[in-house]
Amino acid sequence: MGSVEQLLFNHNNTIVSVASAITAVVLLLTWHRRRSQQQQLQQQNASISGAQEKPKTFPKIEPHPEFDWQATPPVKFRPFKPKYHLSMSISRLNPSELVQMDSTYLSRLEFRRSVMAASSSAPHVLGVVEDPSMSAGAKLAVQELYTWIFKDYLPTRFPFIYKLIDKSSKDEKPTVPSQGGSGSSLYTLNQATNDLVPVTPPEDTKEALQILGAHVDQDFLFLLPAPDGDGYALYAFVTCCPNGFDSAEKLGKKLRDIHTPVPGYKEKLEKSMDRFFAKIEVGEYVQRVNWSFTTTDKLYTPGGNHLYEGEEVSDAEKDAIDISKVHLRCERQVLHRLPSSRAVVFSFKTYMYSLPELKAEGPSAAQEIADGIDGLKLGNVPDMHFYKRAVVWGDAVKAYLLS
Ligand code: HEM
Ligand SMILES: *[C@@H]1O[C@H](CO)[C@@H](O)[C@H](O)[C@H]1NC(C)=O
Ligand SMILES: *[C@@H]1O[C@H](CO)[C@@H](O)[C@H](O)[C@H]1NC(C)=O
Repeated sequence: MGSVEQLLFNHNNTIVSVASAITAVVLLLTWHRRRSQQQQLQQQNASISGAQEKPKTFPKIEPHPEFDWQATPPVKFRPFKPKYHLSMSISRLNPSELVQMDSTYLSRLEFRRSVMAASSSAPHVLGVVEDPSMSAGAKLAVQELYTWIFKDYLPTRFPFIYKLIDKSSKDEKPTVPSQGGSGSSLYTLNQATNDLVPVTPPEDTKEALQILGAHVDQDFLFLLPAPDGDGYALYAFVTCCPNGFDSAEKLGKKLRDIHTPVPGYKEKLEKSMDRFFAKIEVGEYVQRVNWSFTTTDKLYTPGGNHLYEGEEVSDAEKDAIDISKVHLRCERQVLHRLPSSRAVVFSFKTYMYSLPELKAEGPSAAQEIADGIDGLKLGNVPDMHFYKRAVVWGDAVKAYLLS
C-alpha cells in the first residue's frame, strides 16, 4: 500500500501513476466480462439440469386460526355454468388449504374406516400396483406423503386437532393405543378420535394408505410416470368415495386409459392433461371442483353413477327415482407434486347436498342449478349430459327445485 501512495503523490512519477490507473481499468473490465460469461454458463447449466434446480422441499404451511370445526358446516360448492365447458379448469391453491375441516369429520372417518375394513369393499378402496418395477415407486410416494401429512401438514395446520408428541419425553405419556408403523418415538395424537399415529410409516404400503384414509376425510391417488415413460399412470390409491368408477380397475393404467369412458376426453383434455402432469412443480398446488347429481345418498359408489355409450335408459328407471335420495355431489380436487418421489398426488373431498337444502337457497339459486343441468347439453361436449346420467335425474331435479 505504501508504495502505491508514494506513486500517486509523487509528481515526478505522474506518468507511472496514469499507466497504473489504465491497467487497473483494463483489469476491471476483463474481470467483469469473465464474470458475466461465467454467470451465463451457470444459467445455461441450470436450464440443462432443469428439474434438479427446482425446489426440493414441501411448501411452508400456515396454521389455521383456531375455529370450532364441530360447528362449521361443509363448504357449499355451486359450480354451475349455463354452458358446460369440458376443460381442465384448474385454479391456484394456497398449499395450506390442502385439507378442509368441518363438522362431518368424525362421521366421515367412521364411514371411511368401515368401507376400508369390509372385505367386500376393501380391494376397491385400497390399492397398490403389484408389478415389482412399479411398486417400489408407489411405496416411496405413499410413505413420503404419509410422513409429511402426519408430521408436518396436520399438526401445523390444525394444531387444535392433531398434536405431535414425543413418547420418549418424560412429560408426554400417551395412554391411547397406537396404529401402524414403528421406529421413531414421534407420534401424532388425533385429539378428535384419540388415536396415536406414528409419523414413521408402516412397511406395508396398503397399511400406510389405510391409516391415511382413517385420519383425513380425503381420497388420495398417486401418479408417477408410466414404465414406458409416456404419460402418468395410477400407482396407488385410497378412495373411499369413488363416484361411479372402480379404482382397482384403473390401477396401473395411464390417465388417458383411465379416462376412455369420458366423452370428449381424448379430443379436449388428453394433451393438456399430459402436459400438465409432466410440468407441475413442487410447491404448485391447484384445485378444481366437479359436480353431478346422484340418485343415491351413498358415498361409496364404485358403479352406477355414469352412463356409457350404447347404454339405454328406460322410463321405468326414471320413474323409480326416490327423490329423497337424490343429492348434488361435488368433488373438490387438489393436485400437487411430492418433492422427493416426484409423484403427483390427486386428492379429493366429496360433498353431498340434499335437494331440500338446495331448494332452501331460494328461487334464483334453483334456477341457476336448472340452467346448469340444461347447460350440460349446450357446451363443447353435449354427451356429458348423458354420461352424468342427467337423462335419468335431470327432469326430476328441475321439477323439484322449480316447483
Ligand atoms: C386435472 C385433472 C383431471 C381432470 C381435468 C379430469 C377430468 C375428468 C372428467 C371431466 C371426468 C368426467 C366426470 C366429470 O368430472 O364430470 C373424469 C372422470 C374420471 N376421472 Fe378424471 N380428471 C382429472 C384427473 C384424474 C386423475 C388423476 C384420476 C385418477 C388417477 C382420474 C380418474 C377419473 C376416473 C376414474 C373417472 C371416471 C371414469 C369412468 O367413468 O370410468 N381423473 N375426469
Ligand atoms: C457446468 O456444469 C459442468 C458439469 O456439468 C461443470 O463442470 C462446470 O463447472 C459448470 N459450469 C459452471 C459455470 O457452473
Ligand atoms: C369428478 O371427477 C372425478 C375424477 O376426475 C371423477 O372420478 C368423478 O366421477 C367426478 N365426480 C362427479 C361428481 O362428477
